[in-house]
Amino acid sequence: MCGIVGYIGKKPAFPILLSGLKRLEYRGYDSFGFFISDKEKPFLFKKIGKISGFKQNFPNPSGEIGIAHTRWATTGQVTDVNAHPHFDCKKEIFLVHNGIIENYQFLKEKLIKEGHKFSSETDTEVLCHLIEKYFEGNLEEAVRKALREVKGAYGIAVVSKKDPEKIVVAKFSSPLLLGIGQEEFLVASDPAAVIAHTRQVINLDDNEIAVIKPDNFFILKEKPLETIEWKVEEAEKKGYPHFMLKEIMEQPESIENTLKGRLLTNEGMAKLGGLELIHDKLRKIKRLNIIACGTARHAALVGEYMLEEYAGIPTKVDSASEFRYRKPILDKDTAAIFVSQSGETADSLAALKEVKQKGILSLGIVNVVGSSIARETDAGVYLRVGPEIAVASTKATTSQIATLALLTLFLGRQKEMALVMGQRIARELAKIPELVKKILETDSQIKELSQKYKTFNNFMYIGRKYDYPTAREGAHKIKEIAYVHAEGCRGGELKHCELALIDEDFPTVAICPSNSVYEKMISNIEEIKARNGIVIAVATEGNEEIKNLADDVIYIPKTLEMLTPILSLIPLQLFAYHVGVLRGYNVDKPRNLAKSVTVE
Ligand code: AGP
Repeated sequence: MCGIVGYIGKKPAFPILLSGLKRLEYRGYDSFGFFISDKEKPFLFKKIGKISGFKQNFPNPSGEIGIAHTRWATTGQVTDVNAHPHFDCKKEIFLVHNGIIENYQFLKEKLIKEGHKFSSETDTEVLCHLIEKYFEGNLEEAVRKALREVKGAYGIAVVSKKDPEKIVVAKFSSPLLLGIGQEEFLVASDPAAVIAHTRQVINLDDNEIAVIKPDNFFILKEKPLETIEWKVEEAEKKGYPHFMLKEIMEQPESIENTLKGRLLTNEGMAKLGGLELIHDKLRKIKRLNIIACGTARHAALVGEYMLEEYAGIPTKVDSASEFRYRKPILDKDTAAIFVSQSGETADSLAALKEVKQKGILSLGIVNVVGSSIARETDAGVYLRVGPEIAVASTKATTSQIATLALLTLFLGRQKEMALVMGQRIARELAKIPELVKKILETDSQIKELSQKYKTFNNFMYIGRKYDYPTAREGAHKIKEIAYVHAEGCRGGELKHCELALIDEDFPTVAICPSNSVYEKMISNIEEIKARNGIVIAVATEGNEEIKNLADDVIYIPKTLEMLTPILSLIPLQLFAYHVGVLRGYNVDKPRNLAKSVTVE
């Protein structure tokens, strides 16, 4: 999620780090920082905002060893102090980190008791103090000992004034590579940051520690050199032609990040740190109002089904743009949940203002840390999916649904949800990233389908129960990026109106996984076939019967009914993406739309 660059060689490190960070900035980071190791004048600089927008002239440190970081806040607000590099009590060890230290609170309390003084709110700072604790003259040895105590994900680069002339790097579950140049070495979280200097890289594996010095480097085992094939401008998209495709493909990892440290499978519970402070208030809540816009509202609709069916809490979903113009009936037993990727959507913010005026408890399910909704709600849960650049939301959506499933566990188990049911949901949720990966492997088949259907100007999307919001979102995606008219409709409502539209030029995408409403969906598909309609079915693997009815079938793996939308959305995102590209549109920036809708 964050970006790391490090340099050691014979040139001044600072300009190289500066250009490396600028190459990472496309991801929309919120702060940055450098440490340049120089015997005479060590240089530490940390600032909120973007480097490109930084107006002051930077000083010109001459040191040839340095580390730098662009932060995308996860733990701790966006402030200068929370920006990286972080340091130990004596300001001798400096460190940049990409990832999340899950047991940081426990480690922090322990280190404070041992006399360590913390200056930031971040999880990262515990690493500096742990390394300080174990440092006995050799930096890599101290890093090795410190990392034994850590749970979570990290890519780190560390320097020490007491063991100078080296950068120690280590990784677990966060990307990190070494760039091998001529008498110079780089370290980075993303090839984009090294590609201007070298194409020879070594991708570190989990649990590996490497030491890079001005004239050599070593890691725990021999690793082959690899050559980066990307061009510089492609690197920012990691070789993908569009951010949208990159973000769709990132979903196994982004959902995993959303779930990391939050699923207590044995207890059948979810641990949501952000809600702990309001735990007592939440227990008294009898009704929920989820408020959101666009795609986030579709995720909210899935949440409505989950929270009512499994947590037993009456739940209503509101469009933020309508909320304050109607007379919402809210009492002190109601909590309002705001779902938003950006946390800046003007309609949602206006609704939040209204809710606060009425003294109602407000929660946020937000991606962007420190955004207005995140700051202004009473409590909340972050999605942790990293920057979403494409205007069409994809990875944030699946993580919004995963977060609502966590919330269902969290609230349901405090009410009537049985332990076995909680355990089952938790177990199935943990499997979701792997299942998503499996669906993404069928991308070439979905691309072929898109080729077949790219010229149709109208699509119907139908689904029932949990997959009604999926149908809405499938239609939303193809409208916004391929400019194709589409309707997202409840399977059961078809016969009341939309069936009139169906003919051989109006294909239907029918989301019909094998679940409690499968038979009903089959009846709807038959109604469409009887009117010469074309049907593309999204069905559960192993369902051969559907091939006799539908014109084309996209298969998804089996999971719990309540979690199916996370899986069924993936092929719909890919389908819309490919149709948009095949029709020749810039899918990352659809006409007339903006990523963050900050006007009413
Ligand atoms: C999603 O693909 C759209 N770009 C749009 O509907 C979006 O979901 C909506 O504007 C809400 O944005 P938010 O999640 O940042 O609040």
